[in-house]
Amino acid sequence: MLIRTRNESDPLPSEITPRSVYLDRRRFLASASAAGVIAALGLAAPRGAARAAATFADIAPSPFSTDEAMTDYRSVTTYNNFYELGTDKGDPARNAHRLRTRPWAVVVDGLVRRPATIDIDDLLRDYRMEERIYRLRCVEAWSMVIPWVGFPLAALLDRVEPLGSARFVAFETLLDPEQMPGQRLRILDWPYVEGLRLDEARHPLTILAVGLYGEVLPGQNGAPVRLVVPWKYGFKSIKSIVRISLTEEMPPTSWNRSAPQEYGFYANVNPEVDHPRWSQRRERRIGEFRRRDTLMFNGYGDAVASLYAGMDLRTWY
Ligand code: MTE
Repeated sequence: MLIRTRNESDPLPSEITPRSVYLDRRRFLASASAAGVIAALGLAAPRGAARAAATFADIAPSPFSTDEAMTDYRSVTTYNNFYELGTDKGDPARNAHRLRTRPWAVVVDGLVRRPATIDIDDLLRDYRMEERIYRLRCVEAWSMVIPWVGFPLAALLDRVEPLGSARFVAFETLLDPEQMPGQRLRILDWPYVEGLRLDEARHPLTILAVGLYGEVLPGQNGAPVRLVVPWKYGFKSIKSIVRISLTEEMPPTSWNRSAPQEYGFYANVNPEVDHPRWSQRRERRIGEFRRRDTLMFNGYGDAVASLYAGMDLRTWY
């Protein structure tokens, strides 16, 4: 995977608002990729709306992308949920400079034939990065459209060769209260953990993201690598992952552990099943005034509904 360092004079892709211009610029970057080099990505991000230091040079557009208008970069990177970096929406951007993303390794273990500890830079080199413009629907009834840079989680799972007994995939975020001040408070049982059924994890829509808007992922969005599962509520998309383990039993998940009657294991976007304290029928797309109807499986039903055939989605919320 090629990443280019940015000249200070270059506009960032995200500074050019119209999508067509952004895409043209990305095509230019792709054609210039031969000159690309892996950048020094460990640079501390500036405070506030942290700007990434490096830009991906070779990202393939994906047929899975939505053509809906994208949420502006500023909102995507300053309106965040990342409780390790604070509970207010602006805290993660303010505290992201504390997060050191190099060196960083992801352990992939559990019920696999070839467990591996993969350095993040090898991960960036080994996988072909795609742009996936996905809707993200938060359980708090707001939504965004984000152009992620990432690759299918299935490709990583294939590499470690899951055993026949593996049925679930468990994910874990970095545990380090020094870098993550929120972990000094007992808001959740740290580290943040999440899980998917193996077939959900292998679904072609499920990606590991390492960037957004053509740039390296900002800390507040889960640098250096986070999960994105677009048909589930945002909390399933765990950030700053250090471990991925294949298991036979359904793994615990942070929000389910903290409030099981409010947050289930599946957490599929479902306008028919309300959160006990609010409706999930409608949502506010960040940047819009009128609220929209929430779509079953966040609008990805054609691709994913068959995963849940025969399941009562009220019981398995
Ligand atoms: N991952 C970790 N480790 N900690 C968190 O608090 N919040 C989740 C999810 N991943 C969270 C996390 C929630 S509730 C949402 S809505 C999404 O991240 C938000 O992702 P974004 O800030 O990139 O939009």
